[in-house]
Amino acid sequence: MLLQRVNKVSVKRQRRLAQTMAIGLLFAPMLANAEYVYEAGHASLKEWLLPEAAPSPDDNKFSEKRVSLGKQLFFDPRLSGTGQVTCASCHFPERGWADGLPTAVRFLGKNVGLATPTIINLGYNDTLMWDGRMPNLEKQGFAGQGKPADINAGSTVEPEVVIERLNKVKGYVKLFEQAYPGEGLTRESVAKALASFERTIVSRTSPFDQWVKGDKNAMNAQQVNGFKVFVEKAKCTNCHLAPNFNDGGFHNIGLKSFGDADHNPGRFKQKKHKSMDGAFKTPTLRDINQTAPYFHDGSAATLGDVVEHYALGGVVKTNLSPTLPQDLALTKQDKEDIVAFLNALTSDRPMFVYPVLPQN
Ligand code: HEC
Ligand code: HEC
Repeated sequence: MLLQRVNKVSVKRQRRLAQTMAIGLLFAPMLANAEYVYEAGHASLKEWLLPEAAPSPDDNKFSEKRVSLGKQLFFDPRLSGTGQVTCASCHFPERGWADGLPTAVRFLGKNVGLATPTIINLGYNDTLMWDGRMPNLEKQGFAGQGKPADINAGSTVEPEVVIERLNKVKGYVKLFEQAYPGEGLTRESVAKALASFERTIVSRTSPFDQWVKGDKNAMNAQQVNGFKVFVEKAKCTNCHLAPNFNDGGFHNIGLKSFGDADHNPGRFKQKKHKSMDGAFKTPTLRDINQTAPYFHDGSAATLGDVVEHYALGGVVKTNLSPTLPQDLALTKQDKEDIVAFLNALTSDRPMFVYPVLPQN
């Protein structure tokens, strides 16, 4: 099990886990399960509460100006080589900051072959992309301007040309000077602004979160039981841990597509260890009912299908994660209760207001 996690477990997380459980990392996730008391507001549940703000790095501290500039860039087609694609072409608010497609489609209709992940709660993660190749939002935003990146696919325009183009928009030059004084409008500052905005896309006020804070009526009895099954009988918390329903690790969960000769090797591209073949990043489950279909290959249409997959212990079982439970024996009621619980993980937010872009 350690092997699955060893690739990318932050020291911070190790320390926190060790502190919470007062035992070593190796056994923490397994022992954690037995410790909860399933009552609204119980102290044992507090580890599920996310900090109010996602932490920002020292060289890109939070400010309203940075967030508002990043929001404009996120929705601006001038950021793409073709001038026709925005970040929100694939990560849009009405689809839980994903795109509702099994796998993403690029400009000119080329399929990326990977599902678009949500942007929600990424600020709490230190592992980004399905194969974990990016350590933070700033690096992702920088690489995201390169030619092979999704926003530039189908275009031969170099990112530097895009930056030159943006520097001709006086409104942007002024906004960058206000948000990042003296840094100019560069690939780096564009990435920083995007990251600042993405850190504000947070889900931490769902019925589950309210129940953890003490509101008895926030979840119904079926949802509370679903949480218990999620933790105990189904062992989902082997990987979807507090507080963000992820573990910073990579697992092969036995998807059917792993049986294809040309399957996506996932984490194996970054770490050439056999156990990482077909292993993908554990995603958050907050706002999960907004982002169907599911899994990196978009192969599960509904949350019910996801739970059926786990009930089988996976389909292709040749390189399974050792923490993927086998022989779960979930009843129909158990499965329905898990789905009811997953539906309690979505936060209510005011309608998203689109930004006005500087015209010149
Ligand atoms: C054509 C669709 C598309 C566009 C446009 C797009 N993305 Fe993505 N995005 C994806 C896909 C697909 C992935 C997963 C790729 C992978 O893991 O290799 C992804 C991954 C990400 C991630 C990491 C998510 C995670 O869970 O680790 C971030 C952050 C992100 N995109 C931000 C952006 C930003 C910022 C832009 C605009 C500059 C952008 N995306 C434009 C499809 C898109
Ligand atoms: C062995 C670790 C592990 C266990 C146990 C596990 N998951 Fe996952 N989960 C993952 C990984 C890794 C992914 C992404 C896999 C992929 O797409 O290849 C994932 C994906 C998901 C997704 C889809 C997320 C998305 O954005 O597409 C849902 C929903 C989910 N899991 C729910 C559950 C539930 C419910 C359980 C318990 C019945 C569970 N998981 C048990 C590791 C795990």
